[in-house]
Amino acid sequence: MYICICKGIRESDVQELGRAGLTCPKKLASSLELNDKKNCCGRCIKNIDKFVALAEEFSCSQSPVLG
Ligand code: FES
Repeated sequence: MYICICKGIRESDVQELGRAGLTCPKKLASSLELNDKKNCCGRCIKNIDKFVALAEEFSCSQSPVLG
């Protein structure tokens, strides 16, 4: 599913970055080129927390849930 129309970014793209350990808002925004004012509407950089949450969900650095 696309989460950024301007850049054609899919959830799986952000998940892949999370798996690679990229969960910092600045690094995600930079990697996904969300600061590109010419080619972005600005919606996604304002909602970078959603990208971070998605990346963190798939980050290997998170502790496994024990149960
Ligand atoms: S929809 Fe992502 S920057 Fe426009």
